[in-house]
Amino acid sequence: MALDERRLAMLREMGVPFWRPLQLPDAGAPVDAAASGRAPASDASQPGIAPAAAVRAPVAPVAPAEAPAAAARLARPAPLTERRPEPQAPQDGSRMARSATAPPPPPTPTPTPAPAAGEGAANQNGSIASAVIATLDWPALRATVASCRACGLCESRHQTVFGVGHPRSHWMIVGEAPGEQEDLHGEPFVGPAGHLLDNMLRALGLTRAEDAPEDQPPLEPARQAYIANTLKCRPPRNRNPEPEEMRRCEPFLQRQIALVQPRLILAMGRFAVQALLRTDEAIGRLRGRVHRYEGVPLIVTYHPAYLLRNLPDKAKAWEDLCLAAQTMETLPPR
Ligand code: URA
Repeated sequence: MALDERRLAMLREMGVPFWRPLQLPDAGAPVDAAASGRAPASDASQPGIAPAAAVRAPVAPVAPAEAPAAAARLARPAPLTERRPEPQAPQDGSRMARSATAPPPPPTPTPTPAPAAGEGAANQNGSIASAVIATLDWPALRATVASCRACGLCESRHQTVFGVGHPRSHWMIVGEAPGEQEDLHGEPFVGPAGHLLDNMLRALGLTRAEDAPEDQPPLEPARQAYIANTLKCRPPRNRNPEPEEMRRCEPFLQRQIALVQPRLILAMGRFAVQALLRTDEAIGRLRGRVHRYEGVPLIVTYHPAYLLRNLPDKAKAWEDLCLAAQTMETLPPR
């Protein structure tokens, strides 16, 4: 498959409609919808997506290594200050659907969050203080998470879900909490939402893989994403995380971010945003501009599980990825 076709296939996989200039066929030759790059019938029929409203997806052949540049160049996200309309209320009552559309409180300026209060995670429950967590190296942090009993989620989990990716990835993806598959496998985003996330990463030329296959050149941290969740344990029946659970788990994510030192953070869904930006504002009001977490540029987007249920918003998520890629390009060298 040609590179541009591969890229278009990824957009198709994400469900993002796209267009490209129609190649006029030779006289008499049939126009093939797929070859012309128009959205397949299933995309075109998605409610709420008119082809004219589709994101201008990359149309030129672009090698994965050049993807962010191409994405930024071609997708032209709106100015950072632009406010986007709220997403439509979801029809189902699922956790992620709720998480992206909670009624917004009165607008507040984007805060620069302080680290969590160093009050520490319930020592009486067998966890250690956040001040201690803030000093741990990777192996100690992983071991501490694995044995954490700071909240009731430890009772129902099969295992903790720590994080995955190169420890100095330039990109960091923050999700919500493990689901059933993650709880079973011990890795974030391995279920259907993870499949979509991987496709989104691939569209940016990124991977969660820590190492390249033996017969291939080493991966570059600039092309690698570290993936972590706000909670390290699965909430029973995938219910929403509770504030106390988030508070107790927070030092782990903070330490992961401090160790990775990402150049850019992509916060996916309401709970990641709450944890990192300390705001209850709806995703729809936060996306489209660059926030900061401890000085690190942070882009807000919808959670992949939400996108699976709200197909029209995939186009907006693609815009968010383009903004992230464009922002990354403007950062000074590390
Ligand atoms: N949703 C998340 O937020 N994280 C996962 O790991 C899986 C689903």
